[in-house]
Amino acid sequence: MKKKLPLLKYIITFLSLSSLLLFLFFSHQPRRSITLLTAAATESDLKIRRGYTSYDAYIQRQLNKTLNPKLREIWMTRDWDRKIHVFSRFFRELKLRNLLSNSSKALCIGARVGQEVEALRRVGVSDSIGIDLVPSPPLVLKGDFHHQPFDNETFDFEFSNVFDHALYPRKFVAEIERTLKPDGVCVLHVALAKRADKYSANDLYSVKPLLRLFERSELVRVRKVDGFGLDTEVIFRKKNTIQHS
Ligand SMILES: *[C@@H]1O[C@H](CO)[C@@H](O)[C@H](O)[C@H]1NC(C)=O
Ligand SMILES: *[C@@H]1O[C@H](CO)[C@@H](O)[C@H](O)[C@H]1NC(C)=O
Ligand SMILES: *[C@@H]1O[C@H](CO)[C@@H](O)[C@H](O)[C@H]1NC(C)=O
Repeated sequence: MKKKLPLLKYIITFLSLSSLLLFLFFSHQPRRSITLLTAAATESDLKIRRGYTSYDAYIQRQLNKTLNPKLREIWMTRDWDRKIHVFSRFFRELKLRNLLSNSSKALCIGARVGQEVEALRRVGVSDSIGIDLVPSPPLVLKGDFHHQPFDNETFDFEFSNVFDHALYPRKFVAEIERTLKPDGVCVLHVALAKRADKYSANDLYSVKPLLRLFERSELVRVRKVDGFGLDTEVIFRKKNTIQHS
């Protein structure tokens, strides 16, 4: 009996230590795996499409769509009034919500022939302009959204429905945040439920990646829309970091 006691002690010590370790392991496990899952989900919710050998190859491919004569003809004729009508509805709603006003200085990013710029002007936002790789005067100036041709803090309002065309989404968003004034509003129309076209450079599966990319802004709202194949409207407001004393 006396000889067995030390062994029993060891066994008890071993068992208590193992249960403690098991307890520690399992009590930490769920939290860690949730964190990992969330991070993984966020990463996989924005995928850059492969196949672009260089920035130039990417630009060439974008130009190929933008310069396609058949598409340009459709954009300027059949699409023209239809698109202006739909864009005007979106912009009037934003005015009602005080996210846009007649005195806003507004930019449309990736505006192609500029129906959204025309819509802004028609609803009374007269100081509106668009940019695209190919200019379309007088509504759209030449400009790459990865390097916006504007000074810091130029605009009160920026709209874009071409986020999926960005090869560098981080740069796309950083340029918006750079050229927006403090308290400026950015409205994006994106496709979450379905894949965009073959000219897209990325695929977005949730708004989470946008929440991370807009690091100098706060989320204003997310809602479902029906905007030419794009199903979700996401609105951010750039933070006003000026210290009030
Ligand atoms: C551009 O489009 C034409 C036909 O529309 C095609 O032949 C050509 O290979 C395309 N170029 C690129 C760089 O995609
Ligand atoms: C904004 O502009 C539109 C169109 O020109 C005009 O009808 C409307 O009255 C203006 N709104 C304000 C608040 O000035
Ligand atoms: C413009 O903004 C960028 C980043 O937002 C900053 O790095 C840069 O210094 C600013 N340029 C000027 C001239 O203020």
